[in-house]
Amino acid sequence: MTDMEYEKKYESMRYRFCGESGLKLPLVSLGLWHNFGSVDVHENSRKLILYAFDQGITHFDLANNYGPAFGTAEKTFGRVLKEDLAGHRDELVISTKAGYYMWPGPYGNGGSRKYLLASLDQSLQRMGLDYVDIFYHHRPDPETPLEETMMALDYMVRSGKALYVGISSYSPEDTLKASKILASLGTPCRIHQPKYNMLVRDIEKGLFDVLKSEGIGCAVFSPLQQGILTGKYLQGIPPDSRAARPEGFLKPEDIKPEILEKVRALSKIAEKRGQTMAQLAISWVLWRPEVTTALIGARKISHIEDALKAIQKIEFSQEELTKIDEIVGE
Ligand SMILES: NC(=O)c1ccc[n+]([C@@H]2O[C@H](COP(=O)([O-])OP(=O)(O)OC[C@H]3O[C@@H](n4cnc5c(N)ncnc54)[C@H](OP(=O)(O)O)[C@@H]3O)[C@@H](O)[C@H]2O)c1
Repeated sequence: MTDMEYEKKYESMRYRFCGESGLKLPLVSLGLWHNFGSVDVHENSRKLILYAFDQGITHFDLANNYGPAFGTAEKTFGRVLKEDLAGHRDELVISTKAGYYMWPGPYGNGGSRKYLLASLDQSLQRMGLDYVDIFYHHRPDPETPLEETMMALDYMVRSGKALYVGISSYSPEDTLKASKILASLGTPCRIHQPKYNMLVRDIEKGLFDVLKSEGIGCAVFSPLQQGILTGKYLQGIPPDSRAARPEGFLKPEDIKPEILEKVRALSKIAEKRGQTMAQLAISWVLWRPEVTTALIGARKISHIEDALKAIQKIEFSQEELTKIDEIVGE
């Protein structure tokens, strides 16, 4: 790539400010939950990361436990950073998280200061980084005082090991509380990471309002409902798909006939719009200005290509939106 081509890649991507901050995120970001672990072929993982970066996808989302094995997605990413992207650190927004089970004993799960600070140090070591751009508490932990968890996030920013902090899968009520605590400590809650797609829409009932009033950005995960919204399961379970893989989090029993009926009906809208089903699903989460970025997963380059095409068409007519609501039952 020539220098000019290199700079042009940023012109082809669109970026949105993350809530009320100066941090811009690309409309599509790449998540490393599946397909980047030690069970996967390194060369494929590497190609996906480099292709995404070449298209202006500056944001890569990880977590301590992504793999399998736990921690190996961070190792894969660290290796690519070192071997292929050395010198580009300042063009990247790298996030990681802790909150789910990571190691045995009372300090490897949840929301304690003990767990979160140790986990961040481990993540930094695996990725070969001095700091991450965003650190999230991965899920609410009702057994730990929220103040303790938020104080741990605040400390990460103060110690220079995270530039921004956020939370994932918190309810609107807990998000508001967390945001107020963080603000009182002097560290804003910058980003929330909820699940959101045409089939899973509970965040419309309260969370978007809190995010707006608190100036928090929104990185939505699983915009394709782990692949169901691509239409790939309409004729059965393809042998190389997530639902067919033993380590995949999508189980064959999650693919219910009534869901497939909805996807079949949605596919007709996609066709009318001149989009693939996957493109429609990604465009749809992005039409909302509250959504900062769609966190996609990918196993093939063509999956990223589809997501990039989706960005070109995020406007919807009222008629299309109403029809989609009718199909999914909202
Ligand atoms: N905070 C949290 O608790 C949380 C939870 C889940 C995810 N996340 C984040 O969100 C990211 C994305 O989640 P996700 O992987 O579930 O996202 P997704 O975009 O809903 O699903 C991605 C999967 O769909 C299939 N796919 C994608 N594009 C396709 C296309 N054009 N045609 C056919 N199949 C296609 C691929 O699976 P196949 O293997 O079937 O091809 C791909 O791996 C994760 O990597 C992670 O960073 C966060």
